[in-house]
Amino acid sequence: MELTLAITGASGAIFAREALRALEADDRVTRVHFVATDNSLRVIAEELGESGRTQCLEKLLGAAPRKTTQHADANIGASIASGSHPSDGMIILPCSMGTLASIANGLADTLIARAADVTLKERRPLILCVRETPFNRIHLRNMTLAAEAGAVIFPVIPAFYFKPVDSTEMARQFVYRVLAHIGLRQSDAYIWKPDE
Ligand SMILES: Cc1cc2nc3c(=O)[nH]c(=O)nc-3n(C[C@H](O)[C@H](O)[C@H](O)COP(=O)(O)O)c2cc1C
Repeated sequence: MELTLAITGASGAIFAREALRALEADDRVTRVHFVATDNSLRVIAEELGESGRTQCLEKLLGAAPRKTTQHADANIGASIASGSHPSDGMIILPCSMGTLASIANGLADTLIARAADVTLKERRPLILCVRETPFNRIHLRNMTLAAEAGAVIFPVIPAFYFKPVDSTEMARQFVYRVLAHIGLRQSDAYIWKPDE
């Protein structure tokens, strides 16, 4: 699989970190395209204590990337901006209300917005892990617009019934649900088995 993972300036940088690490570790994934908005860098600094644009990917991964390539969000000429480039889907985690608005209204003015637009027009999976609370009517309308265009609205709402010991485990299991949705079930994903 070849996938795109984008991170925006919504709260939840830990989810993007865990998604990047899971994709790098998954042998079924051959290539990952990673894009971070400028605003996501601020949130990464606030939440994970990692600052700066350079080495952002390495810092999130905790190692040198093996199959992940970072593209600048301003580079609207990157490979993933074209429908001719093969792709198995795109995940935006976390997805801000600003980026949701841009995608829902077809602006295609940044690489993330354009790649999402391409993903929808090519009828490929687009998973928008939106994060805001509470939602206003604009947010709700934009989610409906995006869903009607084919996106999956996958809000960052982690589960607690598996009793996560820390925020990393909570984030990782949420990421596993996202990956399962795109066809990448993880062997250590929690499965609810009430009858055992
Ligand atoms: C610490 C922090 C947390 C934020 N959390 C959210 C959030 O959960 N959801 C959201 O939509 N915006 C949130 N924002 C605001 C966005 O970063 C802001 O709207 C930005 O313009 C989004 O731009 P982007 O979509 O290009 O990343 C947060 C900002 C900061 C600094």
